[in-house]
Amino acid sequence: PPAKPLAGCQMTITAGPTREAIDPVRYISNYSSGKMGYALAQAAAKLGAQVSLISGPVHLATPAGCQRIDVSSTQQMYDAALRLAPKSDIFIACAAVADYRVAAVAEQKIKKSDEQMRLTLVRNPDIVAAVANLADKPFVVGFAAETQDVACYAKDKMQRKHLDMIAANDVSQPDSGFNVDDNALHVFWADGEQLLPRADKYQLAEQLMQLITTRYQHETN
Ligand code: C5P
Repeated sequence: PPAKPLAGCQMTITAGPTREAIDPVRYISNYSSGKMGYALAQAAAKLGAQVSLISGPVHLATPAGCQRIDVSSTQQMYDAALRLAPKSDIFIACAAVADYRVAAVAEQKIKKSDEQMRLTLVRNPDIVAAVANLADKPFVVGFAAETQDVACYAKDKMQRKHLDMIAANDVSQPDSGFNVDDNALHVFWADGEQLLPRADKYQLAEQLMQLITTRYQHETN
């Protein structure tokens, strides 16, 4: 039988985009497919973890053995994450969270006019930073999608948000990153780094989950 190095491990993963309502029929979002987060959830379940998958709106089947919590807005994802994180051993923030939400969501459909229209946006809470600031925090892994100076921005993000690990992808490459099947990652932790070369997201997720397992075991033993 395959080894289950994550048996007994509670894991929470955020995946997919979030949606910020403008009015009852419109929203702001992004192109995240959720593929990477779902592939990570599947890889973690295969290694024996108990996985809670907090998912924004995506067109993907729930991986076998994972408990899926569907959310739409960033605030809903934040609430689910902060409820599950204190009971989790590992927290992986793979979601492409909307950084801003509409200040005042219109109750009725906004009518068009010939004038310009302005939307006032306010900052959303940073989910992974809030989890990493919990007193009894899990082992926290974040992602960074950058178009330049990938390593530099990723390491800075890891320190600023108090993450244990960060996986950076270069989304300026047309065949890698957002809403595509392949990806490549540069992973950093406090005293090391590893390149995971371009592969399909499932293979990459298996490699990344192995790396997360190794680092987690190293930190907790
Ligand atoms: O700062 P930036 O958005 O580039 O950081 C990306 C990382 O932070 C990802 O792991 C993402 O899931 C997480 N994040 C979050 N909540 C936010 C914004 C980003 O958890 N509001």
